[in-house]
Amino acid sequence: MDIKKEKMKIDRICCIGAGFVGGPTMAVIALKCPNIRVTVVDINEKKIQAWNGQLNKLPVYEPGLADIIDKVRDVNLFFSTEINKAIEESQMIFLAVNTPTKKSGEGKGYAADLTYIENSAKQIAKAAKSDKIVIEKSTLPVRTAERVKEILELNKKHNISFDVISNPEFLAEGTAINDLFKSDRVLVGGEPNERGLKAVNHLVDIYKRWIPEDKILKTNVWSSELSKLVSNAMLAQRISSINSISALCEKTGADIQEVALAVGMDSRIGSSFLKSSIGFGGSCFKKDILNLTYISRLYGLNEVADYWEKIILINDYQTERFADKILDNFNNNIEGKIISILGWAFKKNTNDSRESASIYLSRKLLLNGAKINVYDPMVHKSRIIDDINNVLKDVNICDDEVNEIISKITIYDNPYEAVNKSNLVAICTEWDEFIELDWGEIFNIMKKPSWVFDGRNLIEKSKLEKLGFKTFFIGKS
Ligand code: NAD
Ligand code: UGA
Repeated sequence: MDIKKEKMKIDRICCIGAGFVGGPTMAVIALKCPNIRVTVVDINEKKIQAWNGQLNKLPVYEPGLADIIDKVRDVNLFFSTEINKAIEESQMIFLAVNTPTKKSGEGKGYAADLTYIENSAKQIAKAAKSDKIVIEKSTLPVRTAERVKEILELNKKHNISFDVISNPEFLAEGTAINDLFKSDRVLVGGEPNERGLKAVNHLVDIYKRWIPEDKILKTNVWSSELSKLVSNAMLAQRISSINSISALCEKTGADIQEVALAVGMDSRIGSSFLKSSIGFGGSCFKKDILNLTYISRLYGLNEVADYWEKIILINDYQTERFADKILDNFNNNIEGKIISILGWAFKKNTNDSRESASIYLSRKLLLNGAKINVYDPMVHKSRIIDDINNVLKDVNICDDEVNEIISKITIYDNPYEAVNKSNLVAICTEWDEFIELDWGEIFNIMKKPSWVFDGRNLIEKSKLEKLGFKTFFIGKS
């Protein structure tokens, strides 16, 4: 492939990383571009097997995804562990690997761990035998493209060229397919020179097949990388803002839903992301804000860093506050009490539980002696146990104690079994099916008094109280 030629043909692309981003984004590209052969590769063999397996057991649950996979898999979408082969064959390579918060070394607890990105860049450099356009799809610290380019140049085995462009992903889990079909914007950042612009245009040509051109924004690489972090930080900021006010509502008699409605009706403010909750979860908001905080401090901007870090502190406070309300309810003695957690996913319509508030709430309740029953329609049992095991590592307790605590969790396939004989139901995820539950029946099978703590303001408070429940709702007195 020669990037200098006016009309370069892109008919083979690959994506490194078959996760929540790589799987759905490539499925949509394959669907919209039947003439492009798309290969999604991953080092995780089990994940690739699952992508190639039964449609109801794909590694990622997203409404509409299985139907697309059914249409394009083995037609022009392929899932494989043969990473070098896919790199060699492709003209364009997306990097959609994970970028978690660093657990050790410089920037520990704040900076993004770029090991997976760097390893992928090395592998591309070593396997590539022709020019490649490398696309940052993962969320990355501003100026990562510089590092990626450096790794590619230092490790390449042939006299070839690489263009690195930034194309961050803005999909939200649970609505990924719709977000990909009708993106608010597609951001493509490239180097501000002729070569960079050509690389950008090759990617734009792909998106143009279904995204209106006025929604495709071309910027420089650094603006693109930074815009992604800032978008997530500003979305999370709105949630923390409304959550902070929910605490004030509980003290004053104001109602958070009424306040959010009134505030959001101002067209300058807008109504989205003003739903008060038990605290935001998900793999990205926290890590991206920590990353933004780290970068700000790196440039000596401590006030900026402190400002953004507060969003996480308020989020932790919100989950902690919810747990404390439950403890208060039992006069700080929940030894042996049964608490049923409805919802483990960090939001509805996903099987993802990364950083879900349910995990931190359950840890606190378990450490205080409660028994926990869990029901979630999508999150796998083993995932739930792993989640608790992982957060117990942050607490200074021995293995026997961990086992003892884990023995107090029971996971159910049925919500009625999960709430049977429990003292309190905590609604943690806003799954639609929880609204439809037979709450009269739930009242009959729970211990008395029967408490519902609604961490999502999902169910009608008056309906529950009429049935005899005692209730706590976020931001309501
Ligand atoms: P994920 O953990 O679901 O998937 C990442 C995949 O990359 C894993 O399957 C892992 O095995 C694979 N991987 C890691 N190193 C590899 C290597 N060297 N070679 C091949 N495969 C490798 O992560 P995700 O949720 O898809 O997120 C990926 C990136 O996209 C992150 O930077 C994230 O911040 C960003 N992002 C995520 C979302 C989301 O909704 N999850 C949305 C927008 C952006
Ligand atoms: C978020 C962003 O919305 C995406 O644009 C971005 O691409 C993605 O992060 C990412 O970079 O990973 P996601 O985390 O999948 O998407 O889901 P959101 O809908 O943003 O919800 C995040 C959390 O905030 C969930 O726990 C949700 O329940 C909570 N939330 C959301 C609230 O508590 N209140 C709200 O009003 C909205």
